[in-house]
Amino acid sequence: MITPEFGRFFTHVLMRQADLAPRGDSQVPNAKAVLDHEYMFETLQERLWPVAEQVMGEELIPTYAYARLYGNGDELAKHVDRPACEVSLTLQLGRSHHYAWPIFMGGVRFDLAEGDAVLYPGCEVEHWREPCAGPDGYFSGQVFLHFVRKNGPHASEVGDNQHRQVFSYVKHRTMVMEVK
Ligand SMILES: [Fe+2]
Repeated sequence: MITPEFGRFFTHVLMRQADLAPRGDSQVPNAKAVLDHEYMFETLQERLWPVAEQVMGEELIPTYAYARLYGNGDELAKHVDRPACEVSLTLQLGRSHHYAWPIFMGGVRFDLAEGDAVLYPGCEVEHWREPCAGPDGYFSGQVFLHFVRKNGPHASEVGDNQHRQVFSYVKHRTMVMEVK
């Protein structure tokens, strides 16, 4: 979905965040870094928004982006997401080794290459990761880009209204770049 080098840039951001403010969250307590509702990842989401719509064949509204830097021993318990995640995209960013820490969607295993993504109905399909068992020193960057269907039942989640007052996404904001 993006080039490997572009994905590595975002893992680089996460590695810096791990130095500046290391933290996990309730789902993955020992994650090296978390960046949620953060403008750099939401800019990536804005860029990929039309692609996600093309895959879905319908209009979508972005809600939020959520990125983590994972390491060995991390685990993601089996779960479904909240309504703001009606249409979700998990994107493999840069990682330290070829080892692809697989994600499972309703029993189907995905071993993603750097830059690859899976689009899935986050509120419907259970997803999880088994304990991460990569080579020594393994790390892996990953981002979830969450959307709702414009004409679906969760359209009121626009901009993830549980977390922010201002909706900042603009479709095709930069499409005039380099066309002159
Ligand atoms: Fe999830």
